[in-house]
Amino acid sequence: MSKTLFNKRAPFRIAVLISGRGSNLAALINAKGKNQIQSELCLVLSNKPDALGLEKAKQANIATKIVPSKGKDKKDFELELVKSMQESKPDLVVLAGFMRVLSGDFLHKLAVPVINIHPSLLPAFPGLNAQKQAVESGAKISGCTVHFVDEGCDTGPILLQKSLEITPEESPEDFAERLLPLEHQSLVNAIQILEGNEVVLQGKRTLLRRRNDD
Ligand code: GRF
Repeated sequence: MSKTLFNKRAPFRIAVLISGRGSNLAALINAKGKNQIQSELCLVLSNKPDALGLEKAKQANIATKIVPSKGKDKKDFELELVKSMQESKPDLVVLAGFMRVLSGDFLHKLAVPVINIHPSLLPAFPGLNAQKQAVESGAKISGCTVHFVDEGCDTGPILLQKSLEITPEESPEDFAERLLPLEHQSLVNAIQILEGNEVVLQGKRTLLRRRNDD
């Protein structure tokens, strides 16, 4: 049995959720500026009031919102998040360094596909400090993954992956720094894939069906 995960004609509306410096967000902003993606960045939302990425969004004239998570019950936080997002009517939500695990209830209420960029080759090294986990495991190759978000922690269907060798004796910090440009490229590529294809889930695998509608 197959299920459609994404099928929206470009340009569509993208909301980006961040918690920090926002370099992945900046990659999307740059790609849009160079017409490498057609879709509109309609909202940048942060759960941290001091997230540096908010400034990057403002400089690019993108609407910003802050929904603080600190000290809030998860259910209340997620309800507020759904409300704030729905006002912007996104067709796709991108988690770009958003450091909260979202519940199945949230995803159901939001009813918009959500993708995430994760700094390892999933299903290896889910969760926090994935680059450090990879380096310390002794793995010789790691990388990054863009995947659809489900109620698990970094468990959803994989859209694309890029790999990078871990060099002998490099620190987790150095590896993370070298990986970052690959993350940026992957996130932009993921949007390009969604702009040109229907994504269908078959078992655990995502299949791309090229759209011929233009
Ligand atoms: C990235 O490594 C991303 O993969 C992870 O958190 C980091 C966010 O970086 N989920 P930035 O805020 O996009 O610069």
